[in-house]
Amino acid sequence: DWTAGNIVEQLVGQIRDQVGDRQVICALSGGVDSSVAAALVHRAVGDQLTCFFVDHGLLRAGEREQVEDDYAANMGIRVVTIDESERFLEALAGVSDPETKRKIIGREFIRSFESAARMLTDEKAADGLSIDFLVQGTLYPDVVESGGGEGTANIKSHHNVGGLPEDLSFDLVEPLRTLFKDEVRAIGRELGLADKLVQRQPFPGPGLGIRIVGEVTKERLDILRAADLIAREELTKAGLDQEIWQCPVVLLADVRSVGVQGDGRTYGHPIVLRPVVSEDAMTADWARIPYDVLSEISNRITNTVPEVNRVVLDVTSKPPGTIEWE
Ligand code: XMP
Repeated sequence: DWTAGNIVEQLVGQIRDQVGDRQVICALSGGVDSSVAAALVHRAVGDQLTCFFVDHGLLRAGEREQVEDDYAANMGIRVVTIDESERFLEALAGVSDPETKRKIIGREFIRSFESAARMLTDEKAADGLSIDFLVQGTLYPDVVESGGGEGTANIKSHHNVGGLPEDLSFDLVEPLRTLFKDEVRAIGRELGLADKLVQRQPFPGPGLGIRIVGEVTKERLDILRAADLIAREELTKAGLDQEIWQCPVVLLADVRSVGVQGDGRTYGHPIVLRPVVSEDAMTADWARIPYDVLSEISNRITNTVPEVNRVVLDVTSKPPGTIEWE
């Protein structure tokens, strides 16, 4: 009988059996998956869990503060934040290929992860404790798309499945491995997580790094962050953030088009809005956002982000398009 209560009870039991009285760490992403995974493990083993959050510089506006607030202030989970944005930007310099970006971000994430883990390990060692487990918010679709399922191809390399170096001696705790997104949300609610956290739209681990078509630079990230914030604000204001699955905002950094503003000609970049509806991200349809909302987003972006002179709407379903552009 599938109820969120039953599943929570079952998963908490499994986590306790696996972890016993040993120490666990969890790298938070700010998304629903790692939140629910962390909350489950916290419910199961309490203070044996330490979370850390790597700020890779590819976050949306306000995201870091939001994460610190959600976990530390509201859930009472211990969270350590590590600013690694310089490291990621340097590693991404000159790179445009999407899969290469993902691999670099995954690799740098693991390096950041290793230094954080070493730091926490030393800290625990001072108390005579060792860290044996790592929590991952891996969902069923992640497993399938990464080739972990039966007879499936590796469509995209998701950095949250596999990829850990052999010398990283943690056993994985993956309580969400058999679940779909809507089930994870139900479990989050059952665990008493805030609605705005449970309802949060998915956001890819590689962050804004895979929403810039072209090289990732600090300037481009700032442009995209500004546009993304406007789109999010307007969709929320229109009450649409619950109705759509997510709305990637993409900067076509390698594309320029001619525009006109005031008396002058502009030669700026397009921003793509990619609002989609979906059940589980395996398939998706483009979301029919009302024209007046689109108009408001477009006007605000082009009026306040000088480098952007065009806003375009992606009207492709998945398949054939993926949800993200990279
Ligand atoms: P696609 O673009 O494959 O996206 O249709 C399906 C869902 O997965 C998210 N996504 C990712 N999540 N790491 C993640 O953690 C990734 O590399 C990644 N790529 C895509 C995407 O936002 C959508 O919800």
